[in-house]
Amino acid sequence: MSLITATLIALACLCFAPAVGAAATVSARRPLRGNDTLVSAQGKFELGLFSPAGSSGDRFYLGIWYKNIPGQTIIWVGNRASPLSAVASAELRVSADDGNLELVGPTVASTSPVVVWSSNLSSSLSPGSNNTAEIRDNGNLVLVDGGNSSNVLWQSFDHPTDTLVPEAWIGENKLTGEYQALTSWRNAQDPASGVFSETLDPNGASEVFYMWNRSRVYWRTGVWMGQAFARLPEATKNTIYNGTYVETPAYRRVINVLYDNATITRSVLDPTGQAQMYIWMPTSQSWQLLWTGPMLQCDVYALCGAFGVCDQGGKLPCHCPPGFAPVSEGDWTLNDWSGGCCRSSPLTCAHNGSRTDGFLMLPDVKLPDDSLTVGAAQSKVECESACVKSCSCQAYAFSAGECTVWYGELRNLQQLYLDSDSPGSDLYLRLSERGLQDLHSVDREKMGRKLWFVLGIILAGVAAVGASVILAWRIVLARRRLVSMANENVSFLAVYSYGDLRAATKDFSERLGHGSFGSVYRGVLKRHKGDNSIRVQVAVKKLESLGRQGDKQFRTEVSTLGCIQHVNLVRLLGFCSSGDDKMLVYEYMPRGSLDGLLFRDGACLSWRDRYCIMLGVARGLAYLHHGCRECIIHCDVKPENILLDEDMSPRIADFGMAKLVGRDFSRALTTMRGTIGYLAPEWISGQPISAKADVYSFGMVLFELISGRRNSKGYSELEAAGTGGSESSLTFFPVWAAAKVLEGEVGAVADPRLRGDVMPKELERACRVACWCIQDEEAQRPTMAQVVQALEGIVHIQAPPVPRTLEHLVTLM
Ligand SMILES: *[C@@H]1O[C@H](CO)[C@@H](O)[C@H](O)[C@H]1NC(C)=O
Ligand SMILES: *[C@@H]1O[C@H](CO)[C@@H](O)[C@H](O)[C@H]1NC(C)=O
Ligand SMILES: *[C@@H]1O[C@H](CO)[C@@H](O)[C@H](O)[C@H]1NC(C)=O
Ligand SMILES: *[C@@H]1O[C@H](CO)[C@@H](O)[C@H](O)[C@H]1NC(C)=O
Ligand SMILES: *[C@@H]1O[C@H](CO)[C@@H](O)[C@H](O)[C@H]1NC(C)=O
Ligand SMILES: *[C@@H]1O[C@H](CO)[C@@H](O)[C@H](O)[C@H]1NC(C)=O
Ligand SMILES: *[C@@H]1O[C@H](CO)[C@@H](O)[C@H](O)[C@H]1NC(C)=O
Ligand SMILES: *[C@@H]1O[C@H](CO)[C@@H](O)[C@H](O)[C@H]1NC(C)=O
Repeated sequence: MSLITATLIALACLCFAPAVGAAATVSARRPLRGNDTLVSAQGKFELGLFSPAGSSGDRFYLGIWYKNIPGQTIIWVGNRASPLSAVASAELRVSADDGNLELVGPTVASTSPVVVWSSNLSSSLSPGSNNTAEIRDNGNLVLVDGGNSSNVLWQSFDHPTDTLVPEAWIGENKLTGEYQALTSWRNAQDPASGVFSETLDPNGASEVFYMWNRSRVYWRTGVWMGQAFARLPEATKNTIYNGTYVETPAYRRVINVLYDNATITRSVLDPTGQAQMYIWMPTSQSWQLLWTGPMLQCDVYALCGAFGVCDQGGKLPCHCPPGFAPVSEGDWTLNDWSGGCCRSSPLTCAHNGSRTDGFLMLPDVKLPDDSLTVGAAQSKVECESACVKSCSCQAYAFSAGECTVWYGELRNLQQLYLDSDSPGSDLYLRLSERGLQDLHSVDREKMGRKLWFVLGIILAGVAAVGASVILAWRIVLARRRLVSMANENVSFLAVYSYGDLRAATKDFSERLGHGSFGSVYRGVLKRHKGDNSIRVQVAVKKLESLGRQGDKQFRTEVSTLGCIQHVNLVRLLGFCSSGDDKMLVYEYMPRGSLDGLLFRDGACLSWRDRYCIMLGVARGLAYLHHGCRECIIHCDVKPENILLDEDMSPRIADFGMAKLVGRDFSRALTTMRGTIGYLAPEWISGQPISAKADVYSFGMVLFELISGRRNSKGYSELEAAGTGGSESSLTFFPVWAAAKVLEGEVGAVADPRLRGDVMPKELERACRVACWCIQDEEAQRPTMAQVVQALEGIVHIQAPPVPRTLEHLVTLM
């Protein structure tokens, strides 16, 4: 910590350097012209005209950004919706008429300068032309009364765009009824207001709402509980985040005041509707994502627009259903999906009863909730005809004797999978006859091409039969050499072609899950055992985050993974490396992953099973850390990566990915899951990662095994069950548990579903080990070998201290 702080202070000191060519204030006599900028007293923030990065550079906006952070991170925009077309004749000035701050310049519509943005105070409020504008060191642009500098007439913190910096707020001005809300940019290149916004509950509750189209709430924080918001217990105060709800007779606000103003953080409502919190890491010169809400992109309402389908497993979350195309291809390439999809050929609704429209089935989708139920329809056929009858009916679904239909545009369609918590339904989407024909002809074309291909091969084969005999012989010889080379490299592993694995997984049809690095599919492969060939079930992982890794490097890395075998590690059976398609083949674990067994309602693992799992995982990790030739840091220890075999023995999955995926690894970790719940503090601070990072994550998993619940959930429910005190109502579970362990009350920490059916000695051991594992200082955490010994009861464990970072840095997830 002290190291980062020191670096941050060093960076802050840079800011004292006088800014060259920048003004201190804007007034009627001294306007800001063209490229000139206004810089805050200590040089932290800069105000001026900018053109969004990546855009064509012909639209200019008044904006505020960090002066000393490369890459111009914009925190405020004035003329969001009305850009200037040139910088040269633009001017930010205090109006001589009414004292307002205004931006004047040419636009696409008018070459002579016009007012594109104004502080827009009614003239009775502003006393005259002596007003001055300045930018403060917290990033606030203020317009102050010329005669009285403590009278702030207007400030940008009252009109936020999509970003909150410390000391800024969202909330309500009770006197004027005005709301301060964050509104997303339309996309990364267009600061105009997007469809998502974030503000306080208009009904007066101390809760933050995330809204689509300023009306429909898709995510909420829960009410303020004094220390944190009810649904975000993990975001309790810490050294980075001191979010507070404040209510006075004049206003109510959510505001984040830093403890330490050398740390640079910001929260932004992303164009895709997620709130994201970032911290600037001076060591890596980059913004590190700390937290997102909602966690899953598809939980953002109507992210993919009308008729778009959200698929959390896809590389990009949005796609159009068959027969549909994006309304605006350009917007889609900028990840602005809100325009949605439209039919490639329009419906031909025939009133006279002749059927010209048909239906296309979309399997396993989460149905939009704005449906109407048709009472009369008793069968799927009747349901379909009920929909056909109305020209505005767009889709229907029939299940369990109930017929539902949708009128108007369909929003919030979501693709579900076998492993989803709730099963999906089949949705029948209306398409014109033409549209359906087009779909079929595309299929036929594909078939046709395949046929010609096969025919071509046969013809060529016949024609060149003489030559090919000789050639084939040569090829066979070469192949043999190749295979033997491959065998040297990849000793235990089978090498599969793309076709092999596609066939084995039935064209990747049965998806088991989606992890940080790609989707996993179930498959069946034939293996030879002596003279017999047997069918074995496998799990095929299609890697996504690999970038353009060379074939040779991939083979080398995979072959070292193939050598690692331990009873508590999932076995790698083979791989496929064909061009950009890289796949790993693992043995199949019928019971799935630990999170399913541990957190799902109804299931309850016995204490015996839990303790065996703790020991098994500890042994597996100890083997990775100490037993292999090269220490292997897993980097992503969490219940999703712990699989269970038939005997409930745990097997760690996904080890070795850190090396395989290389530099992109930490990015994949933070962006894929959007939470740092299992990650050690050193991940956040940007220090090098050692095996002790796994120890930390293992400690977090131990707590979850003990309590049977996600650490990220508050423990208020537990208290309702009468197992704890009630004075501090919500807190991050491990903090609370660590305190209980210290007080000797380990019984209170155990999963209530076990009804006290635990081994007290083992419970105490597990609790103590967990606490030691999540210590801030790497040196204080035990090694995995020590953890194994402690859990086995071979060594005695002292009472651990409560980890300090948990109360500060890491509680933020
Ligand atoms: C603004 O700055 C850019 C690059 O520094 C320069 O090319 C351009 O001429 C400047 N424009 C004006 C109006 O000063
Ligand atoms: C100023 O406020 C009026 C009404 O309050 C509004 O119609 C107008 O668009 C605003 N102008 C600007 C430049 O914001
Ligand atoms: C502006 O300031 C000057 C000098 O301080 C003062 O004489 C003048 O009355 C002020 N004008 C207004 C409109 O306040
Ligand atoms: C200056 O403005 C502040 C804030 O509006 C006000 O409280 C104070 O009385 C003003 N001072 C004078 C001298 O007008
Ligand atoms: C968004 O809200 C406005 C006003 O509430 C409404 O007129 C409009 O139809 C809504 N847009 C969509 C796409 O539903
Ligand atoms: C956190 O913010 C609140 C409200 O702004 C403030 O009263 C409190 O002192 C802050 N805490 C720290 C430790 O800075
Ligand atoms: C933050 O910076 C300001 C300006 O330098 C200073 O006055 C203030 O004391 C600092 N606050 C803390 C908590 O360091
Ligand atoms: C129904 O209407 C369509 C188009 O308007 C027409 O082509 C068709 O002949 C009509 N069918 C009947 C049975 O009238």
